[in-house]
Amino acid sequence: MSEPIRVVVTGAAGQIAYSLLYMIAKGDVFGPNQPLILHLLDIPLMMGVLEGVVMELADCAIPLLRGVVPTDDPAVAFKDVSAAFLVGSMPRKQGMERKDLLSANVRIFKVQGEALDKHAKKDVRVLVVGNPANTNALICSKYAPSIPSENFTAMTRLDQNRAQAQIAARLGLPVGNVSNVIIWGNHSSTQYPDASHAVVQTDGKQLKASDAIKDDNWLRSVFVETVQKRGATVIAARQMSSAMSAAKAAADHMRDWFNGTAPGQFVSMGVVSDGSYGTPKDVVFSFPVSIKNGKWEIVQGLTIDDFSRKMLDATGKELEEEKTDAVGIIGA
Ligand code: NAD
Ligand code: LMR
Repeated sequence: MSEPIRVVVTGAAGQIAYSLLYMIAKGDVFGPNQPLILHLLDIPLMMGVLEGVVMELADCAIPLLRGVVPTDDPAVAFKDVSAAFLVGSMPRKQGMERKDLLSANVRIFKVQGEALDKHAKKDVRVLVVGNPANTNALICSKYAPSIPSENFTAMTRLDQNRAQAQIAARLGLPVGNVSNVIIWGNHSSTQYPDASHAVVQTDGKQLKASDAIKDDNWLRSVFVETVQKRGATVIAARQMSSAMSAAKAAADHMRDWFNGTAPGQFVSMGVVSDGSYGTPKDVVFSFPVSIKNGKWEIVQGLTIDDFSRKMLDATGKELEEEKTDAVGIIGA
């Protein structure tokens, strides 16, 4: 067994954290041989609720969990952490777009960027879940200049998981038989779920998903819209935003970042754009990435047809607008 690592989860008294903390503590993210100390950050008003979460973590009797630090102080929460799940922020309600949360949430990510900069390990890996996740991640990274910008990522893994599940259901296959679906751009209704490079395992053979589905019209309409709107559809049904699936996606994202991706497989992550595929630079844009030795790289050389080009441009434009709005809010 190695030495425990410190892992922070913000919004630790909230819905997503309630599912996520158990997954992290029992080794789903950092592996069965990695003990950890969980730092739990929430706001002062939620300290009573957080105390209940701490009790439940103790009552889970998880051998890998070597300590729990509940706090409302970012300086304590971010001290010496190797991984940060930034969940804490307001969720949207029915009828809102995720970017409507910018004014409520973006300042949180400025404060937390500054706290990470001062207190976290310099190789900390940061996953922003709180919406609007891409732009919050960008702002967080800007306020943590001593930490490399590639260490800041936004979660589009839930969209990827949703897209895989839609294709698996359409083909009547287990979801594990579908891979390399891409989410491009923003975690918003302009995101582009792209199955044109996806592959499926069926009857012992590997096929292009589009060859197995044989319905490009479905892939460009119903499939895209279902994934784009899935968050809103869940809110309409549950009257609360997705939490169990969001926690699973956060665990998947961080596990792959620490452990790597299988050869030939890629996953989608919001990362600071270098302009690949003609996307705007310096926004957090979701790309297909492969991961080795804890470092992600954007998968290069994929064909972008005219339909994809339009979709990438639309989501890139929205991210540039969100960035301008965020800078305006923080400057105000
Ligand atoms: P929730 O309201 O149940 O919990 C949020 C928690 O964050 C609350 O306990 C709140 O007190 C806390 N919080 C607020 N400000 C904070 C701060 N400054 N520091 C620390 N904690 C703070 O919400 P939830 O359902 O857990 O969702 C959290 C966020 O995740 C929302 O913004 C939601 O939209 C987003 N989300 C993103 C995805 C994604 O795919 N990227 C998926 C689902 C939800
Ligand atoms: C989701 O995708 O389910 C979350 O981002 C919550 C939301 O507001 O849609």
